[in-house]
Amino acid sequence: MEQSGKMGWLPAALLFLFFILSSYFSLSIEGDTLTPARPLADGQELISAGERFALGFFSPVETNNRYVGIWYKVSPPTIVWVVNRQRPISERNGSLSITGNGTLIITDWNSKTIWSSSSSGLVSPVAQLLDDGNFIVKEANDDGNVPRSFAWQSFDHPTDTLLPGMKLGWNLTSSLNHKLTSWTNPSDPAPGHYTMAVDLHGDPQMILWEGSNQLWRGGPWNGQIFSGIPDMLRYKIFILDFVMKNDEVFYMYNTTNTSFIVRLTVNYTGVVQRLVWLDDSQMWSIYMSEPKDQCEHVSQCGAYGICNTDDSPICSCLQGFKPRSPTNWDLREGRDGCARMTGLDCQNGTDGFVTIKEVKLPDTSRSMVDRSMGLDDCRATCLSKCSCTAYASADINGTGCIIWTTELTDIRVYSFGGQDLYVRLAAADLGAVPLASHRNNECKEGKDWELPLFDLGTIIAATNNFSMENKLGQGGFGPVYKGKLGEEQEIAVKRLSKTSAQGIDEFMNEVTLIAKLQHRNLVRLLDKDQGVLLDWQTRYNIIEGIAQGLLYLHRDSRLRIIHRDLKASNILLDKGMNPKISDFGLARIFKEDETTLNTRRVVGTYGYMSPEYAMDGCFSVKSDVFSFGVLVLEIISGKKNRGVSISEHEGNLLAHAWSLWMEGNGLKLVDGSISNSISMVEVLNCLKVGLLCVQEYPKDRPTMSSVVLMLGSKNASLSDPKYPGFFPTREPSEVESSKSKKELESVNKLSVTIAEGR
Ligand SMILES: *[C@@H]1O[C@H](CO)[C@@H](O)[C@H](O)[C@H]1NC(C)=O
Ligand SMILES: *[C@@H]1O[C@H](CO)[C@@H](O)[C@H](O)[C@H]1NC(C)=O
Ligand SMILES: *[C@@H]1O[C@H](CO)[C@@H](O)[C@H](O)[C@H]1NC(C)=O
Ligand SMILES: *[C@@H]1O[C@H](CO)[C@@H](O)[C@H](O)[C@H]1NC(C)=O
Ligand SMILES: *[C@@H]1O[C@H](CO)[C@@H](O)[C@H](O)[C@H]1NC(C)=O
Ligand SMILES: *[C@@H]1O[C@H](CO)[C@@H](O)[C@H](O)[C@H]1NC(C)=O
Ligand SMILES: *[C@@H]1O[C@H](CO)[C@@H](O)[C@H](O)[C@H]1NC(C)=O
Ligand SMILES: *[C@@H]1O[C@H](CO)[C@@H](O)[C@H](O)[C@H]1NC(C)=O
Ligand SMILES: *[C@@H]1O[C@H](CO)[C@@H](O)[C@H](O)[C@H]1NC(C)=O
Ligand SMILES: *[C@@H]1O[C@H](CO)[C@@H](O)[C@H](O)[C@H]1NC(C)=O
Repeated sequence: MEQSGKMGWLPAALLFLFFILSSYFSLSIEGDTLTPARPLADGQELISAGERFALGFFSPVETNNRYVGIWYKVSPPTIVWVVNRQRPISERNGSLSITGNGTLIITDWNSKTIWSSSSSGLVSPVAQLLDDGNFIVKEANDDGNVPRSFAWQSFDHPTDTLLPGMKLGWNLTSSLNHKLTSWTNPSDPAPGHYTMAVDLHGDPQMILWEGSNQLWRGGPWNGQIFSGIPDMLRYKIFILDFVMKNDEVFYMYNTTNTSFIVRLTVNYTGVVQRLVWLDDSQMWSIYMSEPKDQCEHVSQCGAYGICNTDDSPICSCLQGFKPRSPTNWDLREGRDGCARMTGLDCQNGTDGFVTIKEVKLPDTSRSMVDRSMGLDDCRATCLSKCSCTAYASADINGTGCIIWTTELTDIRVYSFGGQDLYVRLAAADLGAVPLASHRNNECKEGKDWELPLFDLGTIIAATNNFSMENKLGQGGFGPVYKGKLGEEQEIAVKRLSKTSAQGIDEFMNEVTLIAKLQHRNLVRLLDKDQGVLLDWQTRYNIIEGIAQGLLYLHRDSRLRIIHRDLKASNILLDKGMNPKISDFGLARIFKEDETTLNTRRVVGTYGYMSPEYAMDGCFSVKSDVFSFGVLVLEIISGKKNRGVSISEHEGNLLAHAWSLWMEGNGLKLVDGSISNSISMVEVLNCLKVGLLCVQEYPKDRPTMSSVVLMLGSKNASLSDPKYPGFFPTREPSEVESSKSKKELESVNKLSVTIAEGR
């Protein structure tokens, strides 16, 4: 950029001419004010009072065209405003003047008017360059009382730069849109391709346009910042304001200290930059730049897509949606967006919402806003409108309501400063990703997540507000209730107890595991069914069922799971007496190459814990096998395995069973109540398998796949079991039990059910 008079390359002859002209018009160039008697010739400058800004003629780089502009008096001078953007003067002898009635005009040497401002009808007009960079027309005797209203001001006609105190937005009375338009290129200040303006549609947003296409969306104002520029929350030196009144809507900023030299500019390259002048290094530093990454491009991931620069690919579908064109998505082209997996069901009123946390709110240009409505009413309003697709707070402080009735576009994830968005989904899609974030990478893989998410109200309704009548028992982490979802669906609800110190991690672990595992032998249903005699056939089926379930946990190479707390009370029986393994609170997922893990935190239940786990914290699939063996012996005998005191082995089921087996009296172990219904072969087979499972050394114990085989083949020749592993303990109790965890009625406990059968 080159300024006349400052450039030093003006031909001496020209300078000479200026001196002649200057003396001819008796002009003194100093000062900030233009009067009808004192026009400004090319080569002269107005300087603002604090010498921050200058106004005069200049030529952009690589051209001799002359423009009237305002620039920061830094070095090199930085142009912040241009008057005759589209009509440069080709010669260096134009002038800027103010007429007797207050009209600003630029004329060429021939007195031909190149540009003029609207006429103002003032009596004694002057034009003044203020120290905030505003060039104003006013009556000469207007001493600047507040509020100031100027007959004309350059701030009403921004070019590509927003200075502190300038308004970017709309005068609704005059329908005047104050917007920023980039230069065409560095040597041509004519309006270029890029425009930044406030879009008044829906909830007003800051938009960067490329021609008539949206390039970047700053998003709606959320009370503090634009939703699409969360970084604004961290601005230290700026005071931000967005004003929505009946007669105007605009964005404005100020600095905390007037000594800061700053600007907000739409660059001809299509970026919006906020820049700060560094006095020390004498240069502009980029404070903010948008769009800043791939996710900023408005239609990057299409409708119902969500963009995350930390993911690869960066686009995924919102929960409950799948790619419209999987092929394109596989090519990492997400612009065609996503489609609903399950249609909304407005009439039946079963739709719900999934919360998408910390995001840039979708395009609000076709949304509806109510700034006084609270979030609950917002939700209700959305539910009552069949066309409503989502809602959110209008203000980051949680007040106000935005409702979308169209496709949701341009959503992205923020790690900081995002807002919560509530997206409407059909009931079937609500649980698609429990516990996981909105980073719904799963949508492409069609993962078999099946756990729906229910809100507390639904659970309270289903369990009769956690009533005692609905209470089924007490688990490690809290009570369990039965309940009914709707007419048909019976459910078991585990309530995480507040007082349980161990809990939230284990509970989350359990929910995650159950969500990942959907298998016929895993608990989904808890059924209270008392007083049923468990005959041998039923017991045998239960043993087989548990073995199958455990094998499923152990075998899956992708997700090997050690349950760690297998015991009778964690086996739930449904109406058909089919066993379900429950309580994955302690379960651990093993990687493919892991076989043994060590933990300093031994949790589980004495009586079921293998010696190596109880004593050394060493657990593996073989520790589950041990627990399974104990279970088998309990089911056969109808007795609970007690811990053992050092002096007497009596009460230790394992030792007792082993003795009987070695004596050849294995059948004596069988629960007396069923002794006439048994199949001797099956009982002995089961007993032997049970004893093999509880052997002292893990390496001697069979794997669950062998166990399943052994149970299936009644004539297999099995090796004799070695001495069972057990260890001394004070009394049978759960380790690390939370405070008053007395064993409640425990109807879900297999051992109790058996006892009741007698
Ligand atoms: C200025 O105006 C004169 C006519 O008065 C014109 O001939 C000349 O080319 C112009 N340019 C300069 C640089 O003087
Ligand atoms: C102001 O003055 C200019 C030039 O002197 C003239 O063209 C214009 O009509 C005037 N406007 C008013 C409102 O008097
Ligand atoms: C900007 O802040 C300065 C003080 O830092 C204040 O004097 C000035 O009036 C403010 N400008 C606007 C437009 O609010
Ligand atoms: C809006 O424009 C009208 C007409 O030009 C003007 O009278 C009014 O003062 C302007 N409003 C604001 C807030 O600048
Ligand atoms: C939230 O902000 C709005 C304006 O942005 C204000 O009117 C409202 O009082 C605020 N509410 C709370 C709870 O702070
Ligand atoms: C503004 O900045 C100047 C220069 O850095 C400093 O001297 C002055 O104390 C600051 N004023 C305020 C109010 O912080
Ligand atoms: C626009 O960006 C280019 C390249 O980053 C830079 O050199 C130039 O100074 C910028 N222009 C403005 C007006 O900020
Ligand atoms: C609404 O509920 C009825 C009865 O349960 C069902 O037949 C119908 O399919 C549901 N409508 C939708 C759109 O799911
Ligand atoms: C549920 O019970 C608790 C106390 O146990 C009570 O405070 C609450 O109001 C009840 N809620 C409903 C919906 O009945
Ligand atoms: C019994 O064992 C033999 C060989 O060990 C095998 O061939 C046969 O199929 C088995 N019978 C049954 C019913 O599993």
